[in-house]
Parts: sequence; C-alpha cells; structure tokens
Amino acid sequence: MDARKPLTLHRLREMHAVGIKLAMLTCYDALFARLLDGAGVDVLLVGDSLGMVLQGHTTTLSVSMQEMIYHTACVARGNQTAWIIADMPFGSYQESSEQATRNAVRLVQAGAQMVKLEGGGWTAPLIRSMVDRGIPVCAHLGFTPQSVHALGGYRVQGRDGASAHMLRRQATDLVEAGAGMLVLEMVPAVLARELTSELPIPVIGIGAGAGCSGQVLVLHDMLGLTPGEPPRFVRNFMAGSADLESALRQYVADVRAGRFPDDNLHAF
Ligand code: KIV
Repeated sequence: MDARKPLTLHRLREMHAVGIKLAMLTCYDALFARLLDGAGVDVLLVGDSLGMVLQGHTTTLSVSMQEMIYHTACVARGNQTAWIIADMPFGSYQESSEQATRNAVRLVQAGAQMVKLEGGGWTAPLIRSMVDRGIPVCAHLGFTPQSVHALGGYRVQGRDGASAHMLRRQATDLVEAGAGMLVLEMVPAVLARELTSELPIPVIGIGAGAGCSGQVLVLHDMLGLTPGEPPRFVRNFMAGSADLESALRQYVADVRAGRFPDDNLHAF
C-alpha cells in the first residue's frame, strides 16, 4: 500500500527548500495516473502535449478546453497522492484575465490542483487574477510550444545575453504576480541553474539541465514509445528496465539523485 500523504503545494515548496528534487511526468489518463502515482512521481502534468502524443497532431495548438477537462478528470480519478497540474490550452487564456480565470476554474473543477499557462510578462495580470481567486498557477517560459510558429520551430531560448536577460525579467515578473512554480523548457543549463538559485519557487526543467529544482518529461518519450528520433534532452528509461514500474521508479530515483539529466548528454 502506498503510504504517501497527498502532496500539497506547501510540501512541494518545502521539498524544494531543502533541496529534494521534484519528479514530474506528463499523464493523460487514469491508468497511468495510478501507475505514476504508485511509482512515486510527485507531479502529474496533464499536458496539452496530448494533442501530439495521443491525438497525432503536429503541434499542441488544436487542443480544446473540453479535451483538457476530460483528460484532467481521468487523471484525477486514477491519482491518490501526486500533485496534478493541468495545461491551459491555446486559446483558453489569450483574450483576458476573465477568460483565463473562467477556464482555470473549469480545470480545477475537473480535478486540477494547479493550472499551467505559457508566456512571458503579458501573462502576469492573468496569473495575478487566478492566484487572487485561489487558483495556484505554474508559469512556463523558454521554448513555449503554443508559440512554435512565432518562435520559428523547436529552438533553444535564452542563448544570447539579450534573450537571457529578457527571460530573467519575465521569470521575476511572473513570480511577483504569484506564480507558484515555473517550467523552463529548452534553456541553456547555465542560465536555468542561475534562475533556479535566484527564484523562490520550484523551477522544473525540460531540456534545461541538471541545475533545476526538478525535471519533467513527456511520459511517452521517456518510455521510448514516441516514434522517430527523440529530442536530445530525453532519456529512454525503458531501455535497461525490466518493466514499466521499474522504468518509472528509475526516473524518480535518477531525478532525486541528480543522475538525470546528465548535462554532458541532455543539456544545451
Ligand atoms: O504539454 C506538455 O507536455 C508540457 C511539457 C512539455 C512541459 O507542457
């Protein structure tokens, strides 16, 4: 029997404060929620990556609120102790703070404990509005997949001095607005390490090196199920594992111990 107590934002912050690395994975259904939770994964992210992973689209842009609500409710039913974050899909928060808050409420009612949205300073008023109304928010900076067309493809962000400076300012603004967690995607390891030590909230990296407070990967990538060449920052945890549960436990153990990612192999 799993003796873990349900994780809270306070507990995640305590873990971050004492240097316990947080293990997050994407999760889209009740079956995997039960398996991931049982293997000790701290945070289940109902990512809009489901548009690519489950639905076969080439981007996340077509995922709807209704679909996010459905998958969030499935994950919530399978989970007992992990913290659940649901992505706000493209088009569900771009118009106004009111629209963002209204849609965040729907995700919380479906079972999310925190919502995640992508973008820089322009999202600060949205974050403030949601946090003021009791909804914890995770920000997402660096490469933001919903802006793939504007960013010109899957590119590392914050490589030069000016864009690193902008990223640092955005992160500070979003923390001031009340963001309780930050996902940093495809950012040079040195910059991610600096930001993690400067910010008071957990910073979860994906392709952002080993210096973050925790790591997230797309579940199907780390299980080696995604067709084609995986991104450089992915490790296939099924390779060398006897079964699914061992692979998931290995991921948690390697993130906790700082063995994943290996900056020589996985970082930019
Ligand atoms: O949707 C998703 O899977 C994400 C991760 C890549 C962080 O946002």
